[in-house]
Parts: sequence; structure tokens; C-alpha cells
Amino acid sequence: MIRFFWWYNIKLLVIWGFKKLPVKHSSNKKPMEDSNTNYALITGASRGLGKALAFELAGRKVNVLLVALPNEGLSYLCKQIKDEFGVDSDYLEADLTKREDIFRIKGWVTEKYYKVNILINNAGVGGTMAFKESSIDYLENIIDLNIRALVLLIHQLLPELKRHDNAYILNVSSMLSFSPIGYKTIYPASKSFIYYCSRGLNEELKKSGISVSVLHPGPMKTNADVRKRIGRQGLFGKMGLLSVEKVAIIAVSKMFKRKPVIVPGFGNYINWFFLKVFPDSIKVSVLSKKVLRETKTQQ
Ligand SMILES: NC(=O)c1ccc[n+]([C@@H]2O[C@H](COP(=O)([O-])OP(=O)(O)OC[C@H]3O[C@@H](n4cnc5c(N)ncnc54)[C@H](OP(=O)(O)O)[C@@H]3O)[C@@H](O)[C@H]2O)c1
Repeated sequence: MIRFFWWYNIKLLVIWGFKKLPVKHSSNKKPMEDSNTNYALITGASRGLGKALAFELAGRKVNVLLVALPNEGLSYLCKQIKDEFGVDSDYLEADLTKREDIFRIKGWVTEKYYKVNILINNAGVGGTMAFKESSIDYLENIIDLNIRALVLLIHQLLPELKRHDNAYILNVSSMLSFSPIGYKTIYPASKSFIYYCSRGLNEELKKSGISVSVLHPGPMKTNADVRKRIGRQGLFGKMGLLSVEKVAIIAVSKMFKRKPVIVPGFGNYINWFFLKVFPDSIKVSVLSKKVLRETKTQQ
């Protein structure tokens, strides 16, 4: 009798266990996407970090769409990517500070039926200049490219990204987003905007299959102006120095892991830690003095 009850209870447990197992209905499964037909759209892809990101993605067999200012190098780059990596690549010359050009990007993607499931907002400008000496054009260019273009492009391409089961947005900010800095004023503020915008949007899109990552690179030797500025920096400033290729590898792999915040390299982690623990009053004073010294040695 005891034996019977023992077997009976085991049987009940097994049946209960099976009922608890998740049932996989084929209709519940999301259809497998053919990643070979998907594209990544990268802004500022003609050189620097944008170009490195395009190469890194193409190396992972992702088709790439390159956007930058009218520049003969884009068509050459496109061909180079196709030949070297065997993926598809196309380009559009556009000035992202112009609203109509951002609409043109959306029109181009729609007309050519490009299935864009990765958007990388990389194009950005900075500089060092006293606010009172800055021209309206200089200030407007930073705001229009770093902030306005990023927001409008995400807004324009969101319906396209939403069509995919897995989609990714990667916004390029900077380590300088973690502190206000005089003589750079608008640049760190614009990069801080990108941080808040990315984190907020990532939360908002949580259940949609689209992740939003924000990348905070430290110094990278890209254009001539940045190279000069890095050259003038002391050991602390150079601590997070990485090549664009290294940053691109880290950024792409963490973007695919859907990391909301990406700080590339150990040196930048250390900087990030200090920038997080020190109060703004100390950071702004120390960093502004440092930047001012840099501008003086420049003259
Ligand atoms: N370099 C650094 O040390 C550093 C550090 C932290 C963060 N970042 C950030 O990383 C990103 C890439 O920096 P980078 O140094 O690689 O830049 P970069 O070498 O100066 O290249 C800038 C890219 O943006 C494009 N671009 C500029 N203005 C544009 C506009 N109005 N419309 C369309 N495209 C435009 C350029 O196109 P053209 O070639 O056609 O001019 C180029 O492809 C930026 O967001 C920057 O703020 C850089």
C-alpha cells in the first residue's frame, strides 16, 4: 500500500513537472531573420571611428551603408569594403546638419528597400574655444550635428528598425560627457545629451527588440586637430588612448550584447571611475584649467 502511494506521488510530480515546462508552439517562435540581407547604417563613415566601425561590421559579414559629407572617398571606400569582405555596401553623401538631408537618408533606405537593423550615430564634431570668441556657425554646427541630427535620424529610422526581431542603435558619445568643461562648453554638454537620450530611449524600447547602446570613447588619434590636441596632453589625458580599430571591436561586440553603456579599455574605466566619484565643482575647475593651458600652448 505504502509502495503504491509512493509511485502514485512520483507519477503526479512528473506529470506536474511536464505541465510546467514551457510549451514551444511554432507560431510563438519569432521567424529567423536572414542576417545576410540586413544592413548597418553608419554616419560619419568616411574616416576615423566611423570607418573603423564599418570595417568591423563588414568583417562580421554585415552589409554596410555609409553616410558622410560629400566626399569622393566614400565611393572608393564602398568598393574597398565590397572587394575585401564580400558584403554589400552603398553610400550617400549628406550633410546631417540639414534637416532635408536626414529625410533624404530615410527616402534612400525606403526606395532601395534596404533592411536596416543597425543604426550607428557616429558623426560628431568638437573643438576648443572660448565661448565668447565662438561664432554662431561653430556653435550651431556642434548642436546640429551632435544633437539634432542624432535625434532626427533615430526618429526617421525607428519604423524601419522596428520591423526587425533584433535591431540595434549605437550612439557615439565621449568620456568628456561625464563632466562640464569650460572652453569646450557645448561639446561635453552635447555628449552628455547623447548619454541621457540613449539611456532613456533604451528603457522606452526595452520590449521592442531594439537596444540602444551609448559608447564613450576616450582619446583616439583621428583627424589632424584631434591628433594635435592629444599630442599636447599629459600622461593622464593619454591614459585612455586607443586606436579606432580597438574601439570599434569593443563597441560592436558590446552593441551585439545589448550593453546600454560602453566604456572601451581599462584606462578609460579608470578615468570613468574618477569622473564619477569627483563632484562637478572639482572636475569642472581642474579640467577647464587643463583645457585653457592647452589652448595657450596652441597659440
Ligand atoms: N577622436 C577622438 O578623440 C574622440 C574622442 C571621443 C569621442 N569622439 C567621437 O567619436 C565620433 C567620431 O570621431 P572621429 O574623431 O572619428 O571623427 P572624424 O575623424 O573627424 O570624422 C568625422 C566624420 O563625420 C563626418 N561628418 C562631419 N560633419 C558632418 C556632417 N555635417 N554631415 C555628415 N557627416 C559629417 C565626416 O565626414 P567627411 O569625411 O565627409 O568630412 C567624417 O566621416 C564623434 O562623434 C566624436 O565626437 C571622438
